[in-house]
Amino acid sequence: MSVIQRVSVLGAGVLGGQIAWHTAFKGKDVCVFDISAEALARCRENHALYADIYRAELSASDDDISATQSRLSYTDSLAEAASGADLVIEAVPEDPAVKNAVYAELAPLLPEHTLIATNSSTLLPRDFAEVTGRPEKYCALHYANLIWRMNLTEIMAHPGTSKETLAAVTEFAIDTGMVPIPVCKEQNGYVLNTWLGALLNAAQTLVTNGVATPEVVDRTYMLANRGCAVGPMGLIDVIGMNTVYNINMHWGTLFNDPQVLANAAYLKNNFIDKGLLGTQTGQGYYSYPDPAFLRPGFLSVPDKSVIDEIVDQVALPPGL
Ligand SMILES: NC(=O)c1ccc[n+]([C@@H]2O[C@H](COP(=O)([O-])OP(=O)(O)OC[C@H]3O[C@@H](n4cnc5c(N)ncnc54)[C@H](O)[C@@H]3O)[C@@H](O)[C@H]2O)c1
Repeated sequence: MSVIQRVSVLGAGVLGGQIAWHTAFKGKDVCVFDISAEALARCRENHALYADIYRAELSASDDDISATQSRLSYTDSLAEAASGADLVIEAVPEDPAVKNAVYAELAPLLPEHTLIATNSSTLLPRDFAEVTGRPEKYCALHYANLIWRMNLTEIMAHPGTSKETLAAVTEFAIDTGMVPIPVCKEQNGYVLNTWLGALLNAAQTLVTNGVATPEVVDRTYMLANRGCAVGPMGLIDVIGMNTVYNINMHWGTLFNDPQVLANAAYLKNNFIDKGLLGTQTGQGYYSYPDPAFLRPGFLSVPDKSVIDEIVDQVALPPGL
């Protein structure tokens, strides 16, 4: 029997919501905390959608779904989320200032035995270990989006993480149906995001700089990786505009990289400022639930009616 039974998830957004639902589905008692009532309401709505997805994709029965729902609670009180938790999974925005503030507020509220794991996509546990007030009980546990299909979680320590903590979170990962991915050194982006971040940034650069349309980027990717269900621009919709923007802003500012900052500005101006956050709002690069990349013919050889359109896209002004 795992030592971790009661889990609190901080942040009810895209990933926090998925982690909370999946962890409850696997038998843990889960409390979801967010500072935003709107985010908590959206999380509950998403959990109703996940119930249908788990029925369809994981053959979950009605009893499984009712049991999952009965194990979930939602709160806007950090003290309530902290009390009695065996493990806190932090999934607040990818912004060091926000994460620092949350850990500092959390530290005095937690029972002594509680472990903390960050789901950060690109930041290092060593950067937050001290502010948690319990560095030996702190590590990274990084999930992938669409957790029910991509059931991996990357486990990464900082130099002060104890082996007991790593054993407990690894057992928790296995108990909750995750394939644990051990990361042997601290690495911004772990295994997964080291290549995914580079891929998404390269794809976004093509769009930001007007080299190719989002559909063309995805078509090229999906043709070159036959069988792949989604391309990089569709993946940005799944991840969510806010998280991709936060990552670009953080790393673009740190490395003074004008292209990464231009990519962040593109997402802000074209999507975030218009409330288009990706699949969670039904609109990002594509419209959901029927995005163009899933329609028949997206990867087919077209008929010749497209020739003029292609020439218009490809022809350059004389003298350029
Ligand atoms: N989206 C992904 O595909 C993905 C995948 C793996 C890891 N992550 C990581 O998970 C974390 C969350 O990402 P997300 O995509 O779910 O972001 P999100 O923007 O969808 O959700 C973040 C949530 O945190 C809430 N929040 C903001 N300040 C808070 C505070 N002080 N206390 C509690 N809640 C607060 C917001 O209201 C929001 O609901 C980030 O570190 C991100 O890098 C994201």
